[in-house]
This record gives sequence, structure tokens and C-alpha cells, in this order.
Amino acid sequence: MDTSVVAFDSLMQDSSGGMGRAMATAREFLSSTSPPDLLAQVGMTIEAAPHAHFPDKRWFQKSFYREVTDEPDDLMAGQGLFYITEQRRLFLDCTAGHYQMTWGYNHPDLTALLFDCIHRGVIWDNHSNIPAAPVKRLAEKLIELANPGADLSQLQADESKLNTVLLGVATGTVACGAAMKIMLLHHQKVKAETGPPVIVTLDGNYHGTDMLAQRLRGMWAEYFANLEVLMVQPNDGEELQRVFDEYGERLAGFWAEPIMMNREAIVIEPWYLQLAQRLCDSSGALMGIDEIQTGFWFPGVMMFHRYGIEPDLVMLGKGMTAGFHPLAALVYKGRLDHLAQYDAISTNGNAALAACLGLGCIALVEQHTEQISQVGSYYHQQMAELPAEFPELLAEVRGSGHMSGLKFHKVEDALGFHRSALQRGIWLRVHAYHAGHSTVLTKFALPLDHEVADFAVIAFRELLSGTPWRK
Ligand SMILES: Cc1ncc(COP(=O)(O)O)c(C=O)c1O
Repeated sequence: MDTSVVAFDSLMQDSSGGMGRAMATAREFLSSTSPPDLLAQVGMTIEAAPHAHFPDKRWFQKSFYREVTDEPDDLMAGQGLFYITEQRRLFLDCTAGHYQMTWGYNHPDLTALLFDCIHRGVIWDNHSNIPAAPVKRLAEKLIELANPGADLSQLQADESKLNTVLLGVATGTVACGAAMKIMLLHHQKVKAETGPPVIVTLDGNYHGTDMLAQRLRGMWAEYFANLEVLMVQPNDGEELQRVFDEYGERLAGFWAEPIMMNREAIVIEPWYLQLAQRLCDSSGALMGIDEIQTGFWFPGVMMFHRYGIEPDLVMLGKGMTAGFHPLAALVYKGRLDHLAQYDAISTNGNAALAACLGLGCIALVEQHTEQISQVGSYYHQQMAELPAEFPELLAEVRGSGHMSGLKFHKVEDALGFHRSALQRGIWLRVHAYHAGHSTVLTKFALPLDHEVADFAVIAFRELLSGTPWRK
């Protein structure tokens, strides 16, 4: 056992060193076993990995699965699309961790980049007033991505373009919070005389976990005065038109996520966002597109380009650093640069090492554009066949590319499918906690290939055919 005070074994209070050994063996197993062999063992116990004693979640809050047990079974080690649990079961991860591991667990190129950066002296983090080169380069890269083909020297002076980046924020919630504040300040500055601001959101939205973000999805209403929030149904153009007709210039902003991963993977239609853009333009409302789920998951990195719109504010987060130290960003039009530094900041935003990982993640997306697009449509097409095969269970398939939602008619079936998938060694998520929600979600990390896509869809088909949860 290494006895340094910051050695892993001593930090984990594991004098036998068993935990670290088990993790290293599991990692070695994952990196030295071929993907077909891994697929063949999904759901099995990996005997090559030794048993070890791991801590449980007894100090966690209840909503985070607080539990006292001798046999915790959380994640032990991961590589690519696979992970091994503490009880040594092999799982295929169909949700890229918590939707943020763009390139799966510990992608070798990004791991090599990480060590190379440290070797070159890239610091982990520092004061945001003296951002290191990778942070400044990432800001420029995001502007390039937001304005494909634009002449950057002209763009900088053009305040009507997406030419400003707030990178000093660590999480999506803070990026969205900054966008909300900009909407409110803008309303105050240019149309306060129209009355208290109104913000339009899509029903089922999720723009973070602070109070204002949660207000946008209907929570905490009694604590907010002088702010009206209207939730409209996604893709209902008539309702959107009615709301804009009724509130006109009082509208401060409109929010949308291109794929509502927090509402059963509903895809927002291009015509709907184009209508929203026209309505925003004519009423002076700002359009905020939350790409915290979709950003870095499609060719072109930002999905809004596919919609033929140019939002005023674009929120990015989650997959930007491929799951390394969290970093988020708000890209917005220069004319909206209303916030002072400490109005929207996280101490750990602007982190140089994370910014390098962000650049690495983007470079991989650019390098693999063709494969991402091809495998994404292949997976979606395979999924799209399932409802016709199991009409009594499935209503439809939603989502796009690597993100998909399998909508069940009944919530019990969605929950049962989810349980059976976990027993089979397939990690996916289910939306069943709101009335009417009954959707199984996947968001594969981008190394997904045809073999894994086929394996997953065949396994889903078997689970649907067997319907073991109904017995
Ligand atoms: C669409 C969307 N916006 C905002 C957020 C908040 O991001 P974070 O959890 O990094 O604060 C999330 C998180 O899931 C999200 O999915």
C-alpha cells in the first residue's frame, strides 16, 4: 500500500488496497477485451475482476438512493460504452453516463490529451481575470461553430451576431441562469413600459435546477412577482401564435430545447422554431435555444443550424468537456452583453484543463462527422421499426440520431422494460415520474457503431418479445 497522505488507498481508507486493485483490473479487462467479446458478456459477472469492499451511500440524501449495504453495486470502472459495477457485472451504457460523456468513459485520445496538457504546464484552474490560452481558444472555437464560414474579423464588431461567449460558468444551470437574466435585463432596458416581462417556455422543459430555471417549469410560482411564465405545448404553432398575439411586446423571451430529453425525447420541428423566430423578431422577444443536451452530439456541434434559425442566446454544457471537469457556455449576440462579471460566474468556470478537453471533444466531433451522422441515422431507423412490431406495447419512437425515446402506451410497461433492461446489463433511463410519461430513453455516446447499435436494438426486441415484466 502506498502510504502517501494523498495516495488512493489511504484516501479511500482501504489498507488492503483491494479497491484500487479491483478497479485497475476491471479497467484493464475493459480496455483489453474486444468490443464483440464485451457485447457477448453484457449482463454477466466478470470473474477476472476481483471482489473488493466498496463504500455504500449511507451518507447520501434519500433522493440520491441513500442506502446501507455490504454489497453496493454502483459503477466501479468504465471504458468506452461499457462499465463494470462494484459487484462486477458488465453493463452497456446507453445513456453516455448522465448524458454528458460525449465520447464514452475515458476515451483514449482525450485521456492522452489530458496527460499531454498537464505535461505542457496547462493548469487545472485559475482566476477568471487571467484566463489561460485554452479558455480563450475555446471561446473563439465556439464562435466559429456558432457562425460557420463567417469572417471572424468582421464578426467581432457585428453586435447583431452570435459573437460573445460567457465561458466563466461551470454548469448548464448557471449558463441558463445567465441567459434568463439577460432576457430580463433586456426587457427592463428596452421595453419596461410594456409591463412586467413574460417568458414563454415549452411544457416539460428543463433548463436547470436553480429557482428561476425551475420557475420556468412551473415550480416556486408563489415566490416570484412581476414575472409571468407561460408554458406552451411543443410544436403547437396555433397556441404559440395566440400567446404572441395576446402578449405582444411584453414578451421578454422564448425558450426551447431542440430535443426535449427531459420530456420523453420530443423533437421540436423546424417549422415551429422558425415560426418562433419570426414571432420573437416581431415582438422584440429574445430567442434562447438550450443546447445543453443536443450540443456536441451532432455534426456541426450546435443543432440550431439545422433549423434555419439564428437564436439570440445559445446555451451549451453537459457534453462540452466530454464529462471531464464541468464547463458550460452561453453564446450570445454582442448587443445583449448586459451582465457584469459577477452577475453570472462560477468559480470553476474558465478552467484551462477542462477547456482543452472541450477543444479535444469538438475536434473529435469534427473528425468523425460522417460516422456520427451515419450511425446516428442507422440507430434511429432501427429503433423506428420497433413500434410496428410491438404495436400493443409501443406508441412511437422519438428523438434523433444517438438520442431516442421509446414511447410506451402504459407507464407500467415502460417501467417494466426499464427493470428488465437493467437485469440484462443494459443501462438506460425511463421517464415515468410525471403523469402521462412512459418513455424509455437512450443517448448513446458517440463511439456507438453498427455492431453496438444492432446489439442494443436486438436486445430491446428480445425484451419486448419476452415481456417478462408482464408475467
Ligand atoms: C436541457 C438542459 N438544460 C439545462 C440543464 C442543466 O445543466 P446542469 O445539470 O449542468 O446544471 C440540463 C441538465 O440536464 C438540461 O438537460
